[in-house]
Order: sequence, then structure tokens, then C-alpha cells
Amino acid sequence: MAIVVAGSEILTTALASSIHFLLQNPESFKILLEEVHSSFSSEEQITSASTTSLPYLNAVLNETLRMAPPFPGGLHREVPKGGAIIAGYAIPEGMTVSVPCWSMFPSASNFTSPDIFVPERWLKDADSKLESEQVEMGDKKEAFHPFSLGPHGCIGQPLAWMEMRLILSRLL
Ligand code: HEM
Repeated sequence: MAIVVAGSEILTTALASSIHFLLQNPESFKILLEEVHSSFSSEEQITSASTTSLPYLNAVLNETLRMAPPFPGGLHREVPKGGAIIAGYAIPEGMTVSVPCWSMFPSASNFTSPDIFVPERWLKDADSKLESEQVEMGDKKEAFHPFSLGPHGCIGQPLAWMEMRLILSRLL
């Protein structure tokens, strides 16, 4: 059940959301289309390896996961024996805690203009081709963990990235 739910529905949501945001933001759509078309001259060239280094494609997918996290809630954790200090608060043992993506990612405390689709906020200095497009938003990117983290973080993350990059770039 974990593989069916985690590996299919979530990915479908991520891809549907990316298409939704691209259609709503024609400028981003155009930049991504140009990136894909200028990087490949045939469909066979679009592979897992060759799509890894497309900066705008990765930026669009990150911004999609931020604005429409396919896993909007947070999976629960139980506070261990003896309790714990979590984010500065003393929490007794046995309590259930969770950090929902849906609170963290659209929050203006973490992201500037959180309701606006800006893939450029994810471009890095190393993405030299698109350096001119880069936008420094002063975001708290450490708040962004769409795949969660720790020993129970998503085991399918590499597969999910491969599928998202391949499907979206082939479609475009
Ligand atoms: C965009 C796609 C995906 C997102 C955003 C995502 C996100 C997540 C998140 C937030 C968790 C919860 C981790 C936690 O409790 O801390 C999780 C768990 C999990 N994911 Fe994914 N996932 C994606 C795709 C996939 C794929 C493609 C697979 C496998 C085919 C997969 C398999 C799993 C499994 C088995 C778990 C449970 C891990 C555990 O409890 O140890 N996921 N995922």
C-alpha cells in the first residue's frame, strides 16, 4: 500500500500541479520550453542523466513542490521517553508531533511572496546559463523538505525526481 500510494498518486499530483502552474505563468512556461528544446534535438536524448542538469526544469519542479506540496500534511512522530525539546518547546513523552509542509511552504515567514510562482528563487550561482534570471528572494530554504527528512524520509526521492524530470521534459 505504501508503494502504491506514495509512488503513484503523489507523483501524479506533482506533475498535474507543475502543468497547472506553467499554464498560469506563460513566461515560466516559455523559459522551460526553450531550455528543453535547446538542450535536446530528439526524444531519445531525454534521459534520466541528461535532465538532471537542466536548471530551470529543476527550479520549476521545486517551486511546484513548494506551492502545491503533494504530501501537504506531515507524517506523525511520537515524542520518545523522557520527553524532548522541539523548536524550543518542552514536549512530554508520548505526544504526537508533526511538521506539515502546508504550513511551512506557503508561509511568508519562510518565503517571500509565497503565493507567487517564482522558479527563479531556486536557481543557484552554478546555473551560469540562467544567472541573469536568478532572483534572490531571501527565502529560508532550510524550511523546504517536501520529501521529509530523517530515517523515515521518502525512500522514493531519487525515483520521484527521475520520473518528474523525464515525464515533464518529454511532454514539453
Ligand atoms: C514528488 C513525489 C514524492 C513526494 C513529494 C514524496 C514525499 C514523501 C514524504 C513527505 C514522506 C513521509 C516521510 C516521513 O514520514 O518523514 C514519504 C514517504 C515515503 N515515500 Fe515518498 N514521495 C514522493 C514519491 C515517492 C515515490 C516515487 C516512492 C516509491 C516508489 C515513494 C515511496 C515512499 C515510501 C515507501 C515512504 C515511507 C517511508 C518510511 O516510512 O520509511 N515516494 N514520501
